[in-house]
Amino acid sequence: MVGLGTMGSGIAEILARSGRSVVVVEANDNALARGLAALHASLDKAVARGRLTHADKAQIIARIRAADGLAAGAAGADLVIEAVAENMELKRAVFGELDLACRPDTILATNTSSLSVTALAAGTRHPDRVAGLHFFNPAPVMKLVEVVSTVLSPPGTAETLAGLVRALGKTPIQVGDRAGFVVNPLLLAYLNHAVRLLDVGYATSGDIDKAATSGVGLPMGPLALLDLIGLDTSLSILEALQAELGGSRFTPAPLLRRLAEAGLTGRKAGRGFYEYQRQSVHAARADDTVHHMASQPPSTVVLIEDGAAPLAADLTSTITEAGIGVARPPAAEADLILVAATPARRVLDAALACQSPGDAVGIHLVGPHAARPALAELVITHLTKASAVDAAAALAAKIGLESVTTPDRPGFLAAAMIYPHLNDAATMVQDGYASAADIDTAMMLGCGYPRGPLEMLDDIGPAVVLGVLSAMHASSGDPAFVPAPLLAEHAAAGTRFRC
Ligand code: 3HC
Repeated sequence: MVGLGTMGSGIAEILARSGRSVVVVEANDNALARGLAALHASLDKAVARGRLTHADKAQIIARIRAADGLAAGAAGADLVIEAVAENMELKRAVFGELDLACRPDTILATNTSSLSVTALAAGTRHPDRVAGLHFFNPAPVMKLVEVVSTVLSPPGTAETLAGLVRALGKTPIQVGDRAGFVVNPLLLAYLNHAVRLLDVGYATSGDIDKAATSGVGLPMGPLALLDLIGLDTSLSILEALQAELGGSRFTPAPLLRRLAEAGLTGRKAGRGFYEYQRQSVHAARADDTVHHMASQPPSTVVLIEDGAAPLAADLTSTITEAGIGVARPPAAEADLILVAATPARRVLDAALACQSPGDAVGIHLVGPHAARPALAELVITHLTKASAVDAAAALAAKIGLESVTTPDRPGFLAAAMIYPHLNDAATMVQDGYASAADIDTAMMLGCGYPRGPLEMLDDIGPAVVLGVLSAMHASSGDPAFVPAPLLAEHAAAGTRFRC
């Protein structure tokens, strides 16, 4: 195992846990000590949770040996996995040395996230033994491994590696050598877009992450996930994707670049989008702490339907069950005006039509299960008063929902963040890059999605996603939001991506 950073230490742990002898190599003693400490900490956590005994841990540790230099460490290996930093020159130098040190039949695998495996292979004397073995963070937990073949690989190499992946209790998917393979072009474009939303003040970091977890059902919010992956790693991946695939979705968000440049690379540095102090996590930006100050829920609200009649009917019963009176316009006396909002339609027009637009807040309920919303998106126009936002947040809490605030732009927050991601997945299917089923499996096993993006898209409805994306494109002019032609075709035909 060459490189014992976040990924390398996790991969070394899995290999040793499977009973294999692992030789680890790092550039210097400090890096080696840090990597081994992370490995010990991970095993200690497993012991504390009762997943391993102390004796198991001792046996696993006994299978791991640190080598004195790359050539000495790799000389007797059947397989070398490289997981050094995402830098082509560095990786080329490592592969050059491995090429000379290893037996001709040793497989040389790179855990690169986005660099060309073919270019690495071509720089060696035996390019047919070079392949990609791309794990996901945290490596001991995530079930997917992308096995990457190049045009120079004989079929046997990928088969051998897929067999190893299965023996490690994980699921291989075999992919060609295209930048980022299947998962990263989808994932990184979405994460990058979330940083842009933060950067332009569209929403706070806490609200962005809450929209992804409570609103969409993902295991982590995009900013917390970037902190886990590492902002420096994410920046390098985006740059590689941008260089190979082009398009604005991969142009790194300026804030991501600035944080990486400042050394605020996420969990490993103790600070990225959030601060990490032992057990607790704090928002690293002050804006999250002032949000939704406690306020009394209103005793009466006026509810405006604005073309969302079923939603307004559901809201009326939920709000009245919570002991809050609901009046219909044009009621003069109410503490708050709520507009039942839909993400392709502006709240401002309904607000302007009422007597005091500053008291009007749009409300849109979302959740991973359509029938059970978990999150209220509170849509604020540029006229909305802070007191109205506080009252709406208190109302959401009273009816048992978390809330986020979002500007009055197409998609509001959850859809504005996720629908372009679903559109990217549709484009990937359309371009024959991977099948809808493979994409869904990859995102579920690699990133812990409860459903894959294409199943999500089918459940929401291609026509709904198309409508919101078209509105996003019309309002922003950003070509990244142009709906995939295949999405428009499914919407027109009323068909699904997943059969
Ligand atoms: N190392 C080892 N084990 C870990 C771990 C780590 N760093 N983090 C969590 N775990 C284990 C826990 O010990 C626990 O194990 P147990 O069930 O046996 O007790 C299990 O994972 C669940 O952990 P927690 O209960 O503490 O936390 P959560 O339920 O919140 O799950 C998570 C944590 C698994 C990280 C989950 O939030 C998740 O799936 N997040 C998405 C991660 C993701 O998307 N990864 C892919 C990133 S992209 C990538 O890596 C590609 C690269 O090229 C960029």
